[in-house]
Amino acid sequence: MAARPGRTPVTTSFARALSGHDAELVRSDGGTARLDVDRWRGAAAGEDAWLIERCRGSTIDLGCGPGRLVEALVARGIETLGVDVSPEAVAQCTGRGVPVLNADVFAPLPREGLWSHALLADGNLGIGGDPAALLHRAGRIVGPGGTVLVELDPAEPGLWRGEARVRSRDDLTPPFPWACAGLAAFPDLAAGAGLRVGACHRGVRQFVELWRDHADAGRGCRHRRGPLVPERGAPRGTR
Ligand SMILES: C[S@@+](CC[C@H](N)C(=O)[O-])C[C@H]1O[C@@H](n2cnc3c(N)ncnc32)[C@H](O)[C@@H]1O
Repeated sequence: MAARPGRTPVTTSFARALSGHDAELVRSDGGTARLDVDRWRGAAAGEDAWLIERCRGSTIDLGCGPGRLVEALVARGIETLGVDVSPEAVAQCTGRGVPVLNADVFAPLPREGLWSHALLADGNLGIGGDPAALLHRAGRIVGPGGTVLVELDPAEPGLWRGEARVRSRDDLTPPFPWACAGLAAFPDLAAGAGLRVGACHRGVRQFVELWRDHADAGRGCRHRRGPLVPERGAPRGTR
């Protein structure tokens, strides 16, 4: 569980939010976003179903928080592992009785290259402050033919990178590198990571499915750039 040099570890940055205190993310550009701590701590519900239904094989949830998605997938009989750097998140996963590993997503993880799906839910594309690097990492954690399922920031028109703090009442954490990405950033982000854009969901929340092609044996994979592909047969309100 390595902290990157010169950076405050995010081990505790989300701790107050994870333990249920109202909190917001405060970006270095002045933008703020409320953290949905009730959703993190509750059971999987609503639009989480879009993510859950796409996980048809072994799944690793990167930055799993309290583990609601891990819990829902395990209940479906899907082999699932949550990974989180925060002891508070890990304790809550353990309390739910779901498999979890206390680790940094950039540290070595079990069965790298063999997972069918990797989840980056609820803003987790921001982890580390470099979405291109994180997507590349996630794309190597899943195997060829696997997918990375990413939640986007509907308020972000493109790509924002900087630092953020978590504010909860009078408490403001030290800054840590963070990023936010909207739909428009994805063709380039995905292509740069050697992933192909698949289905997307545009509801109150937004998700995109990124494929690591079967032909990709670790390098030289095929990319497809261009507009995001609306999901065929999507229910109303999704594209
Ligand atoms: C925005 S919360 C999302 C929580 C979770 N995805 C959910 O839906 O409940 C971000 C989570 O990522 C974790 N995290 C941040 N940086 C991490 C890292 N480098 N490695 C692993 N987990 C990390 C935090 O501890 C926190 O639980």
